[in-house]
Amino acid sequence: MSRNYNLALIGFGNVNRALTEVIHYDGAALAEKLGFTLTVTAITDLRFGAVVDGQGVDLGAALSLAPGQTFASLPGGMETCDNQAIICNGPADIVMEATFTNPEDGEPGLSHVRWALESGKSVCTTNKGPAAFAARELEELAAMNGVRFEFEGAVMSGTPVLRLASGPLKGVGITGFSGILNGTSNYVLTQMESGLSLEAAITEAQDLGYAEADPTADIGGSDVRLKVTVLAKELLGADLDAADVVTEGITGITPGMIAEATAKGAHWKLIGQAEMGADGKVNASVAPQMLDSTHPLAAISGATNAVMFETEFLGRVTISGPGAGRQETAFALLSDIVAIDAFYRTTGS
Ligand SMILES: NC(=O)c1ccc[n+]([C@@H]2O[C@H](COP(=O)([O-])OP(=O)(O)OC[C@H]3O[C@@H](n4cnc5c(N)ncnc54)[C@H](OP(=O)(O)O)[C@@H]3O)[C@@H](O)[C@H]2O)c1
Repeated sequence: MSRNYNLALIGFGNVNRALTEVIHYDGAALAEKLGFTLTVTAITDLRFGAVVDGQGVDLGAALSLAPGQTFASLPGGMETCDNQAIICNGPADIVMEATFTNPEDGEPGLSHVRWALESGKSVCTTNKGPAAFAARELEELAAMNGVRFEFEGAVMSGTPVLRLASGPLKGVGITGFSGILNGTSNYVLTQMESGLSLEAAITEAQDLGYAEADPTADIGGSDVRLKVTVLAKELLGADLDAADVVTEGITGITPGMIAEATAKGAHWKLIGQAEMGADGKVNASVAPQMLDSTHPLAAISGATNAVMFETEFLGRVTISGPGAGRQETAFALLSDIVAIDAFYRTTGS
């Protein structure tokens, strides 16, 4: 097997660590399945510093660093990370961007993606920021440089909502979509149906690791707003700014409203949606909706995510699956690498 891709990992948190574990512990089996090998030649992280090794970073050593230690103890390691130098000049073919999502301007992920594409390197990212704020610019930059910008994991983790739309459903005529796109808020609403208050359900979600210490982005709807912005662009070709998506979270949902819905056999869900009008204009919103039991999204409970496409040829098509999780999201990165491999083989790169 002669084909190999060198990877630079930007951010060494849940997602890129899970990817590293798969490459380190299951690399041979993975290469057999994929038809190419993967070598991690750089890792950068605010806490751990950076390591660059063109022969392949010692992944076992990188994974076993204790809290407080840095990559400086590894060959090619240093205490601090100069992301721009490593992304632009390091020995990588593909940059795996998995730093935090900044809902204000997409930085620093957006700059990481730009630097990589401008340097002729493909990018896979699970970070919603770059795609929500600059998908079109970044896709054009990738095309100009003969590389790819892939971000399947940014919307529904490993559940392939973007590739379903751009692959098997290409040409079906998607006119709109509705989705449950935040596992934390859906878990909270599901638990409220079991009698918990909003506050108690949030605390339980935090205890289970679903919700952040600060759950504002999940509960207030801004996480879904970024995902709707990405989906509206990818599915409907809309040039929406996140600010164009009218957004309301679930903080106004009371036990009384839940009880009223339950009595009717209905369910409150936080729905992110967009639809194209007859004039081609796309309207998008995020808001709680009471769905009757026959609606395809009504039965999506707990931390699961789902998107229902409205299409011209098939009517309604729904995909559901995990919307988060370190291993699930690392799988999205792998699926992005597979797409990049197919692109390089097609273009003879
Ligand atoms: N985990 C999931 O289930 C999931 C699902 C879908 C999408 N995502 C997205 O995927 C991305 C990664 O998620 P995650 O769970 O792996 O997050 P995480 O555990 O917080 O890891 C992010 C890592 O990036 C580091 N970092 C932040 N800024 C950096 C910079 N400028 N240069 C280098 N490293 C930097 C952080 O260091 P510090 O900790 O020191 O700040 C942290 O180690 C996020 O954008 C997230 O929204 C995650």
